[in-house]
Order: sequence, then structure tokens, then C-alpha cells
Amino acid sequence: MGFAELWDSLLPIGRDPATGGYRRYSFGDADAACRAWFSNRALERSLRLQTDRNGNLWAWWDVPGSTGPAGGSGGPPPRAGAAGGCAGSPPGADTAVVTGSHLDSVPDGGAYDGPLGVVSGFAAIDLLRERGFEPVRPVAVAAFTEEEGGRFGVACLGSRLLTGATDPAAARELRDGDGVTLAEAMAGAGLDAAGIGPDDELLGQVGAHVELHIEQGSALAGLGAAVGVAERIWPHGRWRLDFAGRADHAGTTRLADRRDPMLPYAATVLAARAAAAGGALATIGKVSAVPGAANAISSAVTAWLDARAPDEAVLAAVVGRIEAAARQAAAGHGVGLEVRRESFTPAVEFDPALRDRLAGALAARGIDAPVLPTGAGHDAGVLAARLPTAMLFVRNPTGVSHSPAEHAELADCEAGVAALAAVLQELAGR
Ligand code: GLV
Ligand code: MN
Ligand code: MN
Repeated sequence: MGFAELWDSLLPIGRDPATGGYRRYSFGDADAACRAWFSNRALERSLRLQTDRNGNLWAWWDVPGSTGPAGGSGGPPPRAGAAGGCAGSPPGADTAVVTGSHLDSVPDGGAYDGPLGVVSGFAAIDLLRERGFEPVRPVAVAAFTEEEGGRFGVACLGSRLLTGATDPAAARELRDGDGVTLAEAMAGAGLDAAGIGPDDELLGQVGAHVELHIEQGSALAGLGAAVGVAERIWPHGRWRLDFAGRADHAGTTRLADRRDPMLPYAATVLAARAAAAGGALATIGKVSAVPGAANAISSAVTAWLDARAPDEAVLAAVVGRIEAAARQAAAGHGVGLEVRRESFTPAVEFDPALRDRLAGALAARGIDAPVLPTGAGHDAGVLAARLPTAMLFVRNPTGVSHSPAEHAELADCEAGVAALAAVLQELAGR
């Protein structure tokens, strides 16, 4: 099946007709439809379907002699020396080459962030099979759960749990905006959160992971290239700021008597903008006010700070400045403040040997793929702590992302599939 047909089969799921944006939140209805879409795409290709203990989906193209454990619910058998076995070394070890991304979205997100990598994975397998390619290593397409943290606040939750980067007991108690815990949400989707956590057996079956993603910036457009290769991911994280004030009447409370959490919150938004220096970015894009009445002073305001920087020292300095400004403003208004880091991803340098191998395989096919850094987070960045990982980017003409306006041209998506197929062939071939 060509990319366009596959793409069109996923496109309507979870799209809000009013905004044109996607609302695909983990373990909700749209997510269930995305999971069914993934299962159907796997089964119609005779790929072995696996839902791992953390709710991540895998579609395995097994190779003879390397099928999963009895019952077929797991991946291929673990191999000695798994991690690192596939990076720069010649093929030989039979650990799998995995590609994939995520199907969840930010609120009113675009169509491409995540799904492009999953759809391209299936399309690349179709292309390789049409060409008669027979892998000597297993190949898998994966879709990781809750990459955006759009429901439970922790970005890349599925890959963090898989790699042991997040404590499973704490994760089970994460709550969404309606107070539903992760454990309850998973149970509602027919999954058991009792088993979430690190899965060394599954990771041991993977030799390399290559995530294809729409570029969340316009560097490729400027360079005139349809695809690129990731160099590194900036360190980044999310912080939750809880400002606690006192509810009161908007029309009768003297200014001197107010403990209004909206004021230090507003000062913090401005401080975030002012603190961004040395190339760093700091954004407050989500806020909730309680009780949320137009004619009442709020009792509490919660805001979420997203901060990213080229290196960890700059990031720590920027977050420190914003927190200091928030504390000073809170104290000045008689408002309490609690600051909690919800997630953090250190700087990620993608495996240089794997990156060079990708670049070489693409160059050999006449594909010019510039090497780019990115400020966006990805499952490949989390998996990089345990596996050789790499990323391919597909040109985004405007650079807009996390918005319904996010776009990639069909020809560029097809170029991405061709590049991914070349990479899979290089890594999983003879
Ligand atoms: C994910 O897209 C992120 O960078 O937050
Ligand atoms: Mn995203
Ligand atoms: Mn993404």
C-alpha cells in the first residue's frame, strides 16, 4: 500500500471538526481507534502484533528462526550483546531494527507529529517487500504511548517506563485533568497497569531504533532538502507551578486585602519570556485557574513551564531565574508557591556510528540529508539511553508544529518513506 492510502486511513481519527486539530489522548476513544488502526495495519501485513507491558504497540516482521516466544505475544528472543549490536557494526547480530513514533497528540495538534513516523514505518515495509527485500534481522514498527504527555503530563511516558526512566509506582498514580489515574485509564482501555515498568527482555531484542518525524522547524526548507538526519536533542523539561491564594469577591475586596494568585502567575509568564537567553526557550502554554469565575479572585492558579536550551547549564540557569522571579512575585502578593519538575530529558547525542551509517546509506542512494539539532523531544531521545537510536526528519515548509497548521507535502512524505526504507535495508539487510 502506498503512503497516501495509509495516511488517509488514519487521518480522520481524533480530528476535531471545529478546529481541524487532533485530540488523540492516551487511552481515550480516539486512542482506541488509533490502536485498532495500528492493529489492522499490522495484521493485514502479517506482522506479529504485540502490546507491551507499558501499552506501547509493536508490529514485528520476524525473520525465520527468530520468531517470538511460544504463544506469539512477545518479540523475538533476546540475543546476546543486544544493545549496541546494530549501530556501526556490520550486520550479523540478529537483534531487531525498530522504527516508529507515536499516535497521541497535543491538544489540537497537527496530523504529522508522531503519526508520520508510524505510517512511514508501515509504508517502508511495504516498499521493501515490493522490492523483494528479505531482512536478516527482525524489523518492527512501534507506536509509543503518551509521547506528548497530553493526558498525564509526563512526556514520552511509554518509552520512559520501558527504559526504566520513570518510576512505575509513581506513574500509576499520575492523574489527568479529570482526576483519573493512569492505572484507571489503562484499565478502561483493557490494559493492566500492575505490570508497567522497565522491560529489559523486550529492549534486549532491539539492536537499533530509528524514528522518522516531521521537522518541527524550517531548517530543511531553508536548505532545500526533503529529509534530514538528527544530530542531537536539546535538554528540556516541564515544571508545574502551583500558586495558592485566597478566593474572594472581585467587586468588593480591597486591593490591599487580596491574595490573588493570578498576579504572580502573570509575573512568571513575563519572567519566562525575559529569562530566555543564550538560545534557550521558555514557554507557559497551559494554565488553570480555580474556581474560574469571572467575578471572583482565584483561590489557585496552576501553570506549566516548558523550558529548553542548547545545554544543561543554560537550561538550569534559565529555569532558576524563572523560579526565583515566581517566588519573589508570590511572596509579594501573599501567595504560596510550589514548584515541581514533572519531566526532564537530558541532552541527547544520537549514536554517532549509527548516524554516520544512516548518512552513508542515504548518500549512496543520492539522498542529500543534512544533519540537524532539534529542540523537540522524542521517544528516540529517551530510548537513546539504552539503545543506539537515530532520527530522520521530513521537511516542514512553514516549520509550524503542535498546531492544526502543521504540514508536510506528500512528495516529501514519500521521500521520507524512501529514506526510511533505505535505512531499514541498510540496518536489517545482509
Ligand atoms: C514533543 O513534541 C515535545 O517536544 O514536547
Ligand atoms: Mn510533539
Ligand atoms: Mn512527536
